[in-house]
Amino acid sequence: MATYAATITGTGSAFPAGIVTNQDIVEKLAASGIETSDQWIRERSGIRERRMAAPGNAEEHNSSLGLAASRAALEMAGKKPEDIDLIAYATCTPDTVIPSTSCWLQHKLGAVNAWAMDLNAACSGFLYCLSIADQFIQTGQVKTALVIGAEVLSSIINWSDRSSCILFGDAAGAVVVERAEADTPHRILSATLRSDGNLWELLHIPCGGSRYPATADIIRDHLNKIHMNGREVFKIAVRTLTSFAKQTLKKHKIAPEELDWFIPHQANIRIIEAVAERLSIPMEKVLVNIERFGNTSSATIPTVLDEAVRAGKIQKGQTVLMDAFGSGLTFGALLLRW
Ligand code: UT7
Repeated sequence: MATYAATITGTGSAFPAGIVTNQDIVEKLAASGIETSDQWIRERSGIRERRMAAPGNAEEHNSSLGLAASRAALEMAGKKPEDIDLIAYATCTPDTVIPSTSCWLQHKLGAVNAWAMDLNAACSGFLYCLSIADQFIQTGQVKTALVIGAEVLSSIINWSDRSSCILFGDAAGAVVVERAEADTPHRILSATLRSDGNLWELLHIPCGGSRYPATADIIRDHLNKIHMNGREVFKIAVRTLTSFAKQTLKKHKIAPEELDWFIPHQANIRIIEAVAERLSIPMEKVLVNIERFGNTSSATIPTVLDEAVRAGKIQKGQTVLMDAFGSGLTFGALLLRW
């Protein structure tokens, strides 16, 4: 039996100001002779628009979006930056390689008593970080954690690939996680996490890291941008999201119909609908924001959560299942009672 339980006491989110509609993308691609349409993007992905940071705008750096989301979460929790012991920051689009984006955030926020770390598990990163915060809190080593999922994916979009460039957007979501009595019902119940590095090729950025540092040729050939086998990722996503959700519910002997809310990673509305159907969860219980924000990787789950909490949808005592997959490939589901 753990010494303590971890409970979420505040949520927040932030988005860049700039809205990029499907029509904006149609026009941008047309300039390079690539065809797409608003109808195709809506029907195949469920996305109408997304937000993108303005390059060079310091207010829209990854850590600045993370800062705005964190401040909102701290305000809801009634906590000060000095109260934070751990900053766990999920991102695959860091401000800089070093220092970590979590340290940039610590600096901007004034969280002087924290230790700060980044974690890259792509779209599963927020659940990985939330689970780490849960473990440190359960063992008594951390009292208050700030967990962030934030991305500026517009910096890695491959505008030469029409099947992936239509999907992504920028955003940040944050939660405050606090120590509670071990027997509280309002807690993170458990997470099921896994990865399969054998599937690395399905969704990756070939160059720009230490293996193949960026050169003029690499940049010209878009090799420092996202490369994705969309069709294959789609199939695996449906299968694994369903399986991780089932495993996590089974562990707690919770039937899908007992679930109050399901928050899947927002990659494609057709993936979300297929998973909900396989789990027999009606779409009224599935929380989505993909239509307005696209796929924001590690930020999808915390931004959806924040919106639902602020709208008064998620109520005390309700059971919420979060479910993610991402580049790696990485997978994870996390169950909590609000
Ligand atoms: O966080 C994880 C990130 N990634 C994902 O979750 C991606 C999962 N995959 C997907 O969401 C979907 O596979 C896509 C949205 C990427 C693509 O949808 P699809 O229904 O799987 O399309 P497809 O790749 O099978 O392509 C169907 C057709 C092709 O044309 P042909 O070969 O049938 O003539 C594509 O060339 O659609 C074409 N196509 C497009 N047409 C207009 C692909 N992209 C576009 C486009 N506009 N943007």
